[in-house]
Amino acid sequence: MRKRRYLITGGAGFIGSHLVDRLLAQSPARLVVIDNFDEFYDPQIKQENIAKHLNHSVYRLVEMDIRNYAALKQLFSEEIFDVIIHLAAKAGVRPSVNDPRTYQEVNTAGTMNLLDLAHRNGIKKFIYGSTSSIYGPHATPPFKEDAPLAPISPYAATKAAGELIAHTYSYLHEMQTVCLRFFTVYGPRQRPDLAIHKFARLIMSKRPIPVYGDGTSERDFTYIDDILQGMISAIEYDATPFEIINLGESQTVTVNRMIELLEDALGEKAIIDHQPPQPGDMPRTHADVSKARQLLNYHPTTPIEAGIEKFVDWFRKGSKS
Ligand SMILES: NC(=O)c1ccc[n+]([C@@H]2O[C@H](COP(=O)([O-])OP(=O)(O)OC[C@H]3O[C@@H](n4cnc5c(N)ncnc54)[C@H](O)[C@@H]3O)[C@@H](O)[C@H]2O)c1
Repeated sequence: MRKRRYLITGGAGFIGSHLVDRLLAQSPARLVVIDNFDEFYDPQIKQENIAKHLNHSVYRLVEMDIRNYAALKQLFSEEIFDVIIHLAAKAGVRPSVNDPRTYQEVNTAGTMNLLDLAHRNGIKKFIYGSTSSIYGPHATPPFKEDAPLAPISPYAATKAAGELIAHTYSYLHEMQTVCLRFFTVYGPRQRPDLAIHKFARLIMSKRPIPVYGDGTSERDFTYIDDILQGMISAIEYDATPFEIINLGESQTVTVNRMIELLEDALGEKAIIDHQPPQPGDMPRTHADVSKARQLLNYHPTTPIEAGIEKFVDWFRKGSKS
């Protein structure tokens, strides 16, 4: 494999730090991470995510906000990149409902900043971390990439806008671009706000877990190693100028079933606190991964039953590494 120079935004976060682990293991020529250690969740967790990366001589951490075009421009004058993998974002569906402007500034304008500097610096490969949330509540499962988009939260709308801008730059400037739509990712280092991690913490401290609605909403939970398989393959992919590709497990389960699996793995019963459905939440997600299979040779291998066990192994070790 050719040694590349990577820029990874959001590389201190959950998905980004796993990707950095994988890429550092391939001895890249250079790997630069931008992250602003956003306070959406405890920045100390992100410091732990990157602790081992700091020992690698090719690795550079730049604490920077992707909203700051001037600072980004300076970085692009100092470094040369072959590939940009853009994962920095304001994450979280529900918080976005109360703070839509910040989501727009980071997820849409921040993405535009990166695409613009990528183009001005002649970078030919851009990967964008998108989301299943953009399909909206009425998409027919399993969701195919050509389904109409109907985002129902500012988070989803701003991520969809990022895809559209990526398409524009790719078309105008011949930048080979892949937008990967991730379906609820979990595994070691999962964001503490996301259901599996949050529920595990509450169950183990014998506190009630909030279940929005009656627990019959369905999620296509995707194990982090499967997401990485798709991402690594997308870095190699260059057959067409622009693609949007689902990365899911394609095995949807109800929230109630996920809780049962978590109870079994933790050996503890959950105390369930039913709450009204939340604005912005999707009733179901379910990925059609036939395009990923065809273009990326993507074969997810970790069903939820096995993935929850792996998550709990990590969780029991004190959520380290
Ligand atoms: N985890 C999932 O289930 C999931 C599902 C679909 C899509 N995604 C997308 O994948 C990407 C990574 O998600 P994650 O779960 O690892 O989230 P994360 O919050 O752990 O990682 C995002 C990182 O971006 C950084 N960041 C936020 N705002 C920034 C800014 N203004 N400037 C620079 N850095 C900034 C954060 O500090 C964080 O480290 C995001 O783009 C998200 O929208 C995630």
